[in-house]
Amino acid sequence: MKTADEGLTMRQYLYISTARNLSLRDVEKIVAQSERKNAERGIGGFLVFNGANFLQVIEGQRDALDRLMADLADDPRHNGIVRLADIAPPQAVFTGWRMRSFAAEDSPSIRRFALGTELPAALDPALREMVLNFAKLN
Ligand SMILES: Cc1cc2nc3c(=O)[nH]c(=O)nc-3n(C[C@H](O)[C@H](O)[C@H](O)COP(=O)(O)O)c2cc1C
Repeated sequence: MKTADEGLTMRQYLYISTARNLSLRDVEKIVAQSERKNAERGIGGFLVFNGANFLQVIEGQRDALDRLMADLADDPRHNGIVRLADIAPPQAVFTGWRMRSFAAEDSPSIRRFALGTELPAALDPALREMVLNFAKLN
């Protein structure tokens, strides 16, 4: 059984999923709505969209993240969610990013460069590597 305390632990989850025929415009709408809702729930993170797949990192209290994961699993705009990481960071690193978007308008090399320069320096190195490897794909 989970104690109340465990539900309040700060976590970072990383998942990938497959988009269901979404345009960049659709993804912009998702991000705008997510920024509002995440601010209310103390969640931060970023979303990478390569035109076919998503990679998202979400950071916050475990209970809030688990509720979001349940919503994400019911969302028909993507499917095939696979969580690749669930870690306890020493500190929050996405406090300034409620949901930062790295979307597909740029080439993979430009997206990879943006991520390489803009991801917070304190991000866990293993997570950073997964993100940068994903960003090579198009
Ligand atoms: C790839 C993807 C990423 C999403 N990221 C978030 C997010 O970070 N925060 C959020 O609140 N909703 C996010 N959503 C939307 C949720 O799946 C869900 O639609 C929303 O939380 C439901 O909000 P509502 O109950 O207020 O309509 C995302 C959806 C997709 C497809």
